[in-house]
Amino acid sequence: MHIDILSVLPELLESPLNHSIMKRAQSKGHLTVAVHPLRKWAVNAYGQIDDYQFGGGAGMVMMCEPLVKAIEELQQEGPYDAIIYMTPDGERLEQKTANRLSLKERLLIICGHYKGIDQRVRDHFVTHEISIGDYVLSGGELAAAVLVDAIGRLLPGVLGDETSALTDSFQDGLLAPPVYTRPADFRGWKVPDILLSGDPKKVDEWRHDQAVKRTEERRPDLLD
Ligand code: ADE
Repeated sequence: MHIDILSVLPELLESPLNHSIMKRAQSKGHLTVAVHPLRKWAVNAYGQIDDYQFGGGAGMVMMCEPLVKAIEELQQEGPYDAIIYMTPDGERLEQKTANRLSLKERLLIICGHYKGIDQRVRDHFVTHEISIGDYVLSGGELAAAVLVDAIGRLLPGVLGDETSALTDSFQDGLLAPPVYTRPADFRGWKVPDILLSGDPKKVDEWRHDQAVKRTEERRPDLLD
């Protein structure tokens, strides 16, 4: 998969995309990510990419021209399967969104700033609008990093144990069950006997029961 990201603050994306599993995804060749500074397509030598909003009101709006020039230039490398705008008024990011997007080949992510991007870019280019939750960040970069991480770890071959993404919370509509590691007894706090039983069927049943219990307690909305 290839992901292009358009940003006015590309530095914000460097660290999250170049460590741990995202680093591995890229070094193994499963994922390429290119962050493009939007000011490259600024309307003047001052690097202007935003302007006052029509109708008045506080806050700047990201202009059509830099965004459209950038999108059209990047599209020459090949068409996008999705052009995603990160925005708090978008559709809430869920595991199923990440699952669906992980099946695509080429994505473009636009990070908003200030009051957001001119509506005409949304109307004519953007195919998906995604929010990472009901709160407002200073810009779309951290939200884009969350999205790339959620998608990137699902690409085949990225996680060491191929099955581990399948047992994540939400993949089967349930929260994940509790997990334990050695020692089996720490300060008298014991690991549940069943996990030491060596009976994989019983362990699976226990994990499923625990996942249901945890979901009922913490996120009953997921069971509706
Ligand atoms: N940009 C600012 N806030 C955001 C959010 N909650 N989700 C996605 N993009 C954003």
